[in-house]
Formats: sequence, C-alpha cells, structure tokens
Amino acid sequence: MASSGVCTVAVVDLTGKTVVITGGARGLGAAAARAVVDGGGSVLITDVLEAEGASTAEELGGAARFLRHDVTSEADWQAALDHAVAEFGRIDGLVNNAGIATGQLLEHESVEHFRRVVEINLVGTFIGIKTAIPLLRANGGGSVVNISSAAGLMGLALTAGYGASKWGVRGLSKIGAVELAEAGIRVNSVHPGMTLTPMTAPIGIQPGEGRFPGAPLGRVGSPEETAAAVAFLLSDAAAYMTGAELAVDGGWTAGPPIPNPAGR
Ligand SMILES: NC(=O)c1ccc[n+]([C@@H]2O[C@H](COP(=O)([O-])OP(=O)(O)OC[C@H]3O[C@@H](n4cnc5c(N)ncnc54)[C@H](O)[C@@H]3O)[C@@H](O)[C@H]2O)c1
Repeated sequence: MASSGVCTVAVVDLTGKTVVITGGARGLGAAAARAVVDGGGSVLITDVLEAEGASTAEELGGAARFLRHDVTSEADWQAALDHAVAEFGRIDGLVNNAGIATGQLLEHESVEHFRRVVEINLVGTFIGIKTAIPLLRANGGGSVVNISSAAGLMGLALTAGYGASKWGVRGLSKIGAVELAEAGIRVNSVHPGMTLTPMTAPIGIQPGEGRFPGAPLGRVGSPEETAAAVAFLLSDAAAYMTGAELAVDGGWTAGPPIPNPAGR
C-alpha cells in the first residue's frame, strides 16, 4: 500500500497501455491510477489540485505523470492529451473521473451552481471524449470509461445539478458507444455508490459493516472497489463491452434491502 492509502484489490492486465485519468490527484481517480500501474500500464493523472496530483504521481513511480488540467477548458484538454502522447507515445484509455458533488434541494439550487456542476461533470466529459477521438482512432481503438454515479441511475434527493450531470454522462456514454464502435473505441459508464473519498468524507460516512443500511450489502464502498471495475473496462478482458453501465454500489440502485433479514 502506498503512503496515501491508495491500494488496489484486484490486478487486471493493462500491460503496455497508456491511460489518462482526470481528477486523479486523490479519491477514486488516484485509486484507478494505482490499478493501471499495478496492471502494468502507464498513466497520466490530471487535476486542478497541483500539489496532490504531483505527490500521487510520485508515489505511483516511473509509470505515472501528472499535469495540471481543468476539464472545462478545451485548450487544457488538448495540452493534456498531447502531453500523454509526448510522454508515453500513445493513448489507449481515457477515464473521465473529475467531478464535483455539492448539491441542494432542487427548489433552493441556484442556476449558477447547477451550470457549474454540469460544466465540470458533463461538459468536461464531452470535451474529453471529443478531443481523444482522433488519437484513439489513430491507434485503431481504445477504451473510454466515464465515471457517472448511482445518482445517474436513480433520482437522488439533494443532487439537482449533480444527478442531472451524471444522467447526462450515462447518456453520453451510450451515444459514444454507438457512434465510435466503428473506430474500435469502447465507451462505458461506471456508477459508484456511496464511496469513502475526500468528496464524501465531509458528510460523515463511515466504513464498516452495517454503516450504510441503504445498500443491500450494508456498507459504503472503497475507492479500490470502483478502481477494479474501471481497470476491467480499460482492459482487453472487456473487449465485447461497450455502452454498458456498471454499478459498483453495494446493490444500492438494485432495490431496497429486505426489511427484516433476521426474521426470514
Ligand atoms: N465518492 C463517491 O461516493 C462517488 C459516488 C459516485 C460517483 N462519484 C464520482 O467519482 C468521481 C471521483 O470522485 P471522488 O469521490 O474521488 O471525489 P474527489 O473530490 O476526491 O475527486 C474528484 C477530483 O476531481 C477534481 N476536479 C474537480 N474539478 C475539476 C476540474 N474542473 N478539472 C479537473 N479536475 C477537477 C478534484 O480536484 C478532485 O481531485 C467524481 O466524478 C464523482 O462524482 C463519487
């Protein structure tokens, strides 16, 4: 385990693959970067958090690089992907992970905040896919993994902008899957449930059995559990998967837990 606690629970073969991961300075993105490196791949982590991004890349060793990159900027996107090609020679995968998650009741949500969340989570993902297409096409294909959310599979209260952006990411992934199959580019979405990261730590969630009764598995997830799904979708083991939505949510979106398991 690295000193940041970024470890992985599964190793998927990513030998020779280069992956760009946005929002990779910490949380789910950092865990996904660890999974890529553990699988034998190379990774360019990008983020607006410069110190954390540089330190995460350093922990991951020589197969990792960091670049400051704001996903809402078209110029930053081109610079980031050009940097990955300059450093590693090619791009095989893109993980659109960067996101923000603050929310409000719909009736109290400001138009400005709603626009900001959609701009980062959804428009950022769109610019990323659009900018990567020529590079992936030139390689004969690749894998795009878009991090949506359980909030992109159901109506989650207090997430007007966030939930709308994550439903958008899910839909955009389907469109990408259909349009880009001819180029050998697979596009899938991953839907984490309640997962302990710097994003969710402020709301007080705790790891451990029974701490999240809303999900049938009864607990919150770890970043490494989502990273394992991301690594799988990046790998050739998922060669026949495109347009899929992979929930990594302890069953949260499958349905409510049975009310009285002890009384069965
Ligand atoms: N943690 C959860 O429970 C959970 C659940 C479902 C989905 N997700 C999604 O997973 C992804 C990662 O979230 P996390 O939990 O690791 O949160 P996090 O806050 O730890 O990580 C998100 C990263 O995105 C970066 N970022 C924010 N705005 C950016 C921008 N404009 N350009 C570039 N980078 C930017 C942040 O600096 C941060 O490092 C997000 O898309 C989030 O919506 C998280």
